[in-house]
Amino acid sequence: MKRSLIDILDFSVEEIDELLATAKDMIADPDKYAECCKRKKLATLFFEPSTRTRLSFEAAMLELGGSVIGFSDAANTSSSKGESVSDTAKVISCYADIIAMRHPKEGAPLVAANAASIPVINAGDGGHNHPTQTLADLLTIDREKGRIDNFTIGFCGDLKFGRTVHSLISALSRYENVKVILISPHELKLPSYVKKDILDKNNIEYVETTDLEAVMPELDVLYMTRVQKERFFNEEDYLRLKDSYILTPQKLSNAKSDLCIMHPLPRVNEISVAIDDDPRACYFKQVYNAKIMRKALILKLLKEAGSI
Ligand code: NCD
Repeated sequence: MKRSLIDILDFSVEEIDELLATAKDMIADPDKYAECCKRKKLATLFFEPSTRTRLSFEAAMLELGGSVIGFSDAANTSSSKGESVSDTAKVISCYADIIAMRHPKEGAPLVAANAASIPVINAGDGGHNHPTQTLADLLTIDREKGRIDNFTIGFCGDLKFGRTVHSLISALSRYENVKVILISPHELKLPSYVKKDILDKNNIEYVETTDLEAVMPELDVLYMTRVQKERFFNEEDYLRLKDSYILTPQKLSNAKSDLCIMHPLPRVNEISVAIDDDPRACYFKQVYNAKIMRKALILKLLKEAGSI
């Protein structure tokens, strides 16, 4: 049976724990894994722009001894001729052993997974989900804080369209005593379906505010996000909202000394570069952790599919 990762909740907490343990072992002993995906191919199907996600998937597969095929611009593929996502997935199943797909339409990777005969990984679907960024975020929190429970996390910026936020909130809903503070302009609040289906359903304590500085002293983790320009219907709204929050050293003056500052990147203006050298800045560590978690994920899915 092939197993895919479309939503972070597709994996149990125990499975995520196993992935975190594999990732830590990969950090300690990368050579042990250098050939475990030999002769296996990853196909990266990116219908939307990406730097980190696509290249880290590719680097991950290469570090496992496998190889990579794919595209990063759908304009040059048969989808521009009208081919369906299902047909593309069936075709790629004849060429590769595993797919990582990013698509602007919510649900497209699920459609692909239903049609493919190989595992499909959702590498971001519209403003919906981004489960592999969440795996990276969980490893980052675990490595920085030594735990994924009993802490307060502030999500700041575009909580409406920010798919990394939706997936991380889903994942954290299963850990003990995680308090969530949602910091955004009114227009970019967390969608009500996430509040209802995830936060309320799991009795997660949360607060909504527009004021980052007022809640700063409470935070153990601050998750900054970019205002998602590509999801806006008109540029005027984007321009009005894009610089709603800019984290500067001065705004950190009342923050905890062990605050973990995260951002899935790319950054536009949300975090001043003056913060990059602050020991609390963890966003470039997240990039490294993402590659490692993608290695652990590819290995898990190929093993479960019986390909290795
Ligand atoms: C994020 C994404 O694509 O959702 N980027 C990433 O994969 N690290 C965040 C963003 O684009 O703002």
